[in-house]
Amino acid sequence: METSHLQAIILAAGKSTAFNTNRTKLLEKICGQELILYPTRLLASMHIPTTVVVGYERERVQEALTAHHNQDISFVVQEEQHGTGHAILCARNAWNSEHILIMNGDMPLVTENIIQRLYAKHIDSNATISFVTAHNADPSLDGYGRVVQQDNQIRIMEAHELPRDTHEHCCIDAGIYIVKRSFLEESIDEIEKNEVSKEFYFTDIIKIASAKDNLIATISAPFDCIRGINTFQELWVAEQIKRAELIKHWMDRGVRFSVAQNVHIDLNVTIGAGSLIGSGVHLLGSTNIGSNCNVHEFSLLDNVTLGDTSTVYSHCIIKDSVLGMQVKVGPFAHVHADNSIGNESVIGNFVEIKRSRIGSRVKAKHLAYLGDATLGNNVNIGAGTITCNHDGFKKHATKIGDNAYIGSNTTLIAPITVEQHAFTAAGSTITHDVPAYALALGRARQVNKDGYVHALREKKHIKKEPTEQTSTSSSEDKDPSCSFVGATKTSSDTYSI
Ligand code: UD1
Ligand code: MG
Repeated sequence: METSHLQAIILAAGKSTAFNTNRTKLLEKICGQELILYPTRLLASMHIPTTVVVGYERERVQEALTAHHNQDISFVVQEEQHGTGHAILCARNAWNSEHILIMNGDMPLVTENIIQRLYAKHIDSNATISFVTAHNADPSLDGYGRVVQQDNQIRIMEAHELPRDTHEHCCIDAGIYIVKRSFLEESIDEIEKNEVSKEFYFTDIIKIASAKDNLIATISAPFDCIRGINTFQELWVAEQIKRAELIKHWMDRGVRFSVAQNVHIDLNVTIGAGSLIGSGVHLLGSTNIGSNCNVHEFSLLDNVTLGDTSTVYSHCIIKDSVLGMQVKVGPFAHVHADNSIGNESVIGNFVEIKRSRIGSRVKAKHLAYLGDATLGNNVNIGAGTITCNHDGFKKHATKIGDNAYIGSNTTLIAPITVEQHAFTAAGSTITHDVPAYALALGRARQVNKDGYVHALREKKHIKKEPTEQTSTSSSEDKDPSCSFVGATKTSSDTYSI
């Protein structure tokens, strides 16, 4: 579409009073994207130069827009919020095209087709002003202006200006207008302050144009596409619609959702064909799920890349991490902040990983914490292994080489290196580096005091249980005075790992 004579002004300065948060609604997110970015991204994709009117919390709004659009968007400030008519007046110095598209910032569901049709109608009919309408006969819907025709005149009346029974007026003003700049320049000052709200309503421009016998054109759009967001309830409804669109999009591309209605999926998520997404799953941010993956119920993936044919079992939280192909995670695993996990690795139940590089075919199947760790390939992490990465002041690194075997309940006091093919004995506290192919033992030797309990009971005058066998242990071991403390055993015990 040729739009070289068109520029856009988006209104984003309002106070969002009905949200009751004291914050601008325009930064509330729908499917992971701020409300205001929906219209601005749409217009950018159509190459329509855009100016945004900012005011309330303008630093935050500008920051979000600049982060996305860089310098491709300009701003004007409405210092005090006196209504939509006043907001457009504040942008006067920015008006420079022959036609000006004016759009509310709180419309996340508008499509390119609506803008295209409105502009085509405006140009083809040579209208002075053109705007979008929608049909809604719900009398309880009071947040919209209604298009009213009386005595050959057309005007938009806000809900509070209409009689209580609004159902006769089912033609709604969508909040998208294209105006000839020449008309805007000569007429904007004629908008008067509304006596009740003390605001200047841009919608009054229709009444002014009509009174001057200007040609006014309209196009009609589905109500769901033009919904404005004035309350949290309306935000919730709009998000349901957007989410349903996204889910349909991925279903059409070969993704199965076991309970589609309770999956949360963000705008920038991608999912490969053949994947199955379970009930209650949250796919957030820029998460990319490969093909033929399974993400089981109630797991949350935020900015995660998951390689093909991988499985995330239920109740996992995975953030800001890259996982390879045929990886298995969970159930109940927590992979948080900056991790990479190589192909075919298994991160099992109740395993927590943070800022770690995990090689391929690594197995950490049960109850472990790996923080600031770098693991090679084929490493086995026994149940209960902990990298002690924090000394109370700083974080330290743990390095584990290829094919190393970390026995269950090993405590690795970082900074530490366990070289390739090394073993650590189960229950060890490892405080020194372990050379390649070595076995590291770091645990107290076990001492068994045979019959000790009998001797203790005798000393305390406790009666023997009838079922108890008499001990065959030596008299030395029966000596209740023999203490565990400092006792050693000098036999050639072997440690099993
Ligand atoms: C507006 C229209 C209404 C229409 C509806 C569609 C007016 C008077 N009414 O009502 O006819 O049916 O949109 O959703 O225009 N804003 C400013 N400065 C201000 C006031 C508002 O920039 O001083 C911005 C807001 O941030 C918002 C947009 O203008 O993005 C619309 O304002 P809002 O308060 O949402 O208007 P509605 O009551 O929804
Ligand atoms: Mg609104």
